[in-house]
Amino acid sequence: MSFRIQPAAPARPNRCQLFGPGSNTKLFAKMAASDADVINLDLEDSVSPSDKDTARANVIEAINNVDWGKKTLSVRINGLDTPYWYRDVVDLLEQASDRLDQIMIPKVGCAGDIYAVDALVTAIERAKGRTKPVNFEVIIESAAGIAHVEEIAAASPRLVAMSLGAADFAASMGMQTTGIGGTQEDYYMLREGQKYWSDPWHWAQTAIVAACRTHGLLPVDGPFGDFSDDDGYIAQALRSATLGMVGKWAIHPKQIALANQVFTPSDAKVTEAREILAAMEEAKASGSGATVYKGRLVDIASIKQAEVIVKQAELIAGS
Ligand code: COA
Ligand code: MG
Repeated sequence: MSFRIQPAAPARPNRCQLFGPGSNTKLFAKMAASDADVINLDLEDSVSPSDKDTARANVIEAINNVDWGKKTLSVRINGLDTPYWYRDVVDLLEQASDRLDQIMIPKVGCAGDIYAVDALVTAIERAKGRTKPVNFEVIIESAAGIAHVEEIAAASPRLVAMSLGAADFAASMGMQTTGIGGTQEDYYMLREGQKYWSDPWHWAQTAIVAACRTHGLLPVDGPFGDFSDDDGYIAQALRSATLGMVGKWAIHPKQIALANQVFTPSDAKVTEAREILAAMEEAKASGSGATVYKGRLVDIASIKQAEVIVKQAELIAGS
């Protein structure tokens, strides 16, 4: 371990972030009643330019008047390349109650983007005497975002989470794809005439996880567009969980249960992790740093791996 101890990410469940357009008020009560851990009310790309002002007003009214229970409540503002974002921040911070937990900043490209929003939010919080600081989450969805992912993760103490936005990311990178996440038909290896599909999102996800773990943020997988493909969603989510991500977006309510299922460690995994911890306790008692569990080596690193699973399960059970 480096002299610098890795900071812990916020201890709250973030298995599913459910999105809904700020212009579609009839969804708000359904979102509040859902099993998603995080709600993202959207002012950005699911809202047409002519609806921006109405959506902003709808969202503020919903923050203040809908019962969101214990959910983390986040609003996705417009990007810093638009004329809308400053008004999003000003109106939210001046008019929304303390029930607002987070602002999601899309399409961030450098630490300066976070600094700009932070300066505006900080000034309004002071002017209005807000006592609960608003947190930030960001979407990495551009070439610049992934190139500067580490400085972005370090940019503000307000930052709590970072998501990969596959569609905008693919467009910015010039990738020849149209699907939002998941398997890409043309991304395969050939062996003896057989196609073996690979995962084009893997490296970007890993870069995000590394930046998040270095700076104590929650790494999250973004949207999966084909909401009629449950198996495809689960396969994508399982890969993300294996790489260290803690949750995934839902852009349709049927994806919530899928995310909750994948990002809640299974009973079998938790049992195995507890057995490994018990085996290592026994090994330690007999003065040994390594032992055998089900025919394989477990050692002091195995304790840390097992603890990741047990802690995540306890966090979710206690929430
Ligand atoms: N949150 C909560 N409930 C939702 C919902 C959401 N995001 N999307 C749909 N529902 C509800 C519908 O109102 C409907 O409810 P009902 O049974 O009471 O009538 C039910 O779920 C089934 O909806 P369905 O008819 O299958 O979908 P739709 O055609 O109404 O909407 C979308 C499809 C994709 C337009 C809609 O799900 C949506 O707007 N998703 C979010 C998009 C978004 O926010 N994108 C930005 C992030 S990428
Ligand atoms: Mg996007």
